[in-house]
Amino acid sequence: MKQKNIIIAIDGYSSCGKSTLAKALAKYLNYIYIDTGAMYRAVTLYLLRNNIDIYNTRAVEDALPHIHLSFQSADYQTHIILNGQEVSDEIRKMEVSDSVSTVSAIASVRKEMVKQQQRLGKAANIVMDGRDIGTSVFPDAHIKLFMTADPKTRADRRYRELSSKGEKVTLEEVFNNIAHRDYMDTTRKESPLVRASDAIILDNTELNEEQQLAFAINEVEAYIKANS
Ligand code: C5P
Repeated sequence: MKQKNIIIAIDGYSSCGKSTLAKALAKYLNYIYIDTGAMYRAVTLYLLRNNIDIYNTRAVEDALPHIHLSFQSADYQTHIILNGQEVSDEIRKMEVSDSVSTVSAIASVRKEMVKQQQRLGKAANIVMDGRDIGTSVFPDAHIKLFMTADPKTRADRRYRELSSKGEKVTLEEVFNNIAHRDYMDTTRKESPLVRASDAIILDNTELNEEQQLAFAINEVEAYIKANS
């Protein structure tokens, strides 16, 4: 059954600019932007802060009812609130990046996040980015993009972003983290990262942000024209 609201699903590998494109597209269309990676990151942050062993599935499951997430979306940025506190900056730190793919592979975590994501998608026109949006969260999404880019280019971009925020990391650490998450995300048992057969591939290795946005707008306009 088709969704009533327009759902745009953007999936792809780590650090290939999904959220930058998703935000710009949501702003252009005046849709709600939902960053599902931020949700998995916030769960991970909670577990780390509370010294819960992320390899102990039972302990993680027991913690889930104590984790309350919400978004405040004023300016198309991700403002994620974990149990009443904004954690948008903390969730981007390497400590969280290093553990998030272990946490996101746990079935009960995914089940809970997907439930919340589907609820958010029922309420409005949305652009949602993640790893399993077009395959598992919204398999009937109206438009699906699958983003990819050369791993070295991705590491370079993320390294520059983290360094500009003052985080002390090396390019090698960032590259290794991206390679590790790609491996974990594509090989996990629960809804692994895979391109939906009807997703349009966007390789942005050689594209700037404006070119990517133009590509996405073109796809959305073609969809709307074909369906009006
Ligand atoms: O998108 P971002 O890099 O912030 O996502 C962090 C991690 O969260 C990913 O590496 C992946 O393990 C997990 N994730 C996921 N499913 C999603 C979004 C993110 O498993 N829909």
